[in-house]
Amino acid sequence: MSDTNKHDEKLAAAVIKLTQIIVFLVVVIIALVIALVKSAPASKPEVDLEAPVPDEYGNFTEAGKLEAKRVAQNTVQYWQAPDETSLNGLSQKESILYGKELIAHTSIYFGEKGKIFNSTNGMNCQNCHLDAGTKVFGNNYSAVASTYPKYRARSGGMENIYKRVNDCFERSLNGTALDTSSKEMQAIVNYIHWLGKDVPKNKKPEGSGFKDLAFLDRAADPDKGKNVYETKCQSCHQANGEGIMNGDRTAFTYPPLWGNKSYNDGAGLYRLSNFAKYVKYNMPLGASHSATQITDEEAWDVAAFVNSQKRPKKDIKHDWPSIAEKPFDHPFGPFDDGFSEKQHKFGPFKPIREKREIMRKANSKK
Ligand code: HEC
Ligand code: HEC
Repeated sequence: MSDTNKHDEKLAAAVIKLTQIIVFLVVVIIALVIALVKSAPASKPEVDLEAPVPDEYGNFTEAGKLEAKRVAQNTVQYWQAPDETSLNGLSQKESILYGKELIAHTSIYFGEKGKIFNSTNGMNCQNCHLDAGTKVFGNNYSAVASTYPKYRARSGGMENIYKRVNDCFERSLNGTALDTSSKEMQAIVNYIHWLGKDVPKNKKPEGSGFKDLAFLDRAADPDKGKNVYETKCQSCHQANGEGIMNGDRTAFTYPPLWGNKSYNDGAGLYRLSNFAKYVKYNMPLGASHSATQITDEEAWDVAAFVNSQKRPKKDIKHDWPSIAEKPFDHPFGPFDDGFSEKQHKFGPFKPIREKREIMRKANSKK
């Protein structure tokens, strides 16, 4: 073999070696790049948490904005009622389940044909405290055990759960109070305590009571509300607003919204904000906070319409002994803020809120 041939062979071998090394290095680099890209955290789309977020109807509500913020931060953990299997072995089990039954089917016991006595308008607690007081933002009882006894401005004193339950018997059910020591009252209170058993003292869990609803910039309009009522509510609650009873008249299939079987004018739902919040997140039947069916305007306007119809009156002259503590939408004077009964009933509420805030700050400086 000639020297040049040998030289060529060596050269070829070196070139192959070099090529192999280069290929190896390239493969390693590619592998490294792939590994890096895969392990890097997926870049999150920028969420501007302060930007207003429209709800599914394109309305910009404060509540919607807050909700979107919490969902984006993934911090929403809604309250859930305890599992009923946790009742097994409890000495109070029977009483708690009876309490639930009384909330769900109040009229069977206290309605027109009540098994115990006829002392109410025939509504069920559950008509307004949905799913026996367990539905998220359906006026549930999750925060009752943890927050009572508490000071309530309506009575101007400390209230325990018995008093609060009887408030709804006397106002929402337009009836008479239960004896505090009765088996029925004990059962209702045991049930409410059990529902809230896992909620720390003085805390309100996510999803308790009602969900907030932004104010309108105008007064709520009963005429517009009538239109909403006719198209979205009347099919169940009826043209006369009085609902429909079942065949044997033991309960309402569709509860009344006004008329002499409805809540009285001292009840929580008679305040426009409570009504609007209840309806926005729960009506028409099947709606929920995450699947609403009406706009904010429709909710406020239908509240104005319904709460302008005839209903039983309650003697409320002892309510709100301190007039400065009346809610912005308590529709009966006297008031210390200079706004009319009409504006306290229908709004616009923003100016009332703002003026009261100024008054409150001035008072706290004194
Ligand atoms: C017509 C609707 C309606 C009916 C029926 C009704 N409630 Fe209520 N209830 C309300 C509203 C509205 C509130 C909240 C009021 C407020 O915050 O001003 C409320 C509040 C309560 C609270 C306090 C909740 C809290 O977190 O502070 C309890 C307890 C309660 N109701 C029990 C009952 C019981 C028991 C019954 C049946 C005997 C009943 N309610 C029937 C509308 C109703
Ligand atoms: C498909 C039938 C249906 C429609 C439509 C409907 N509701 Fe209801 N509504 C019910 C039923 C049933 C309840 C009682 C729920 C329960 O007991 O679980 C109820 C309860 C209520 C309550 C609380 C109880 C009371 O009688 O005071 C209010 C307030 C209310 N509805 C308002 C409205 C408004 C306003 C609309 C229209 C935007 C509407 N509902 C549409 C079936 C309906």
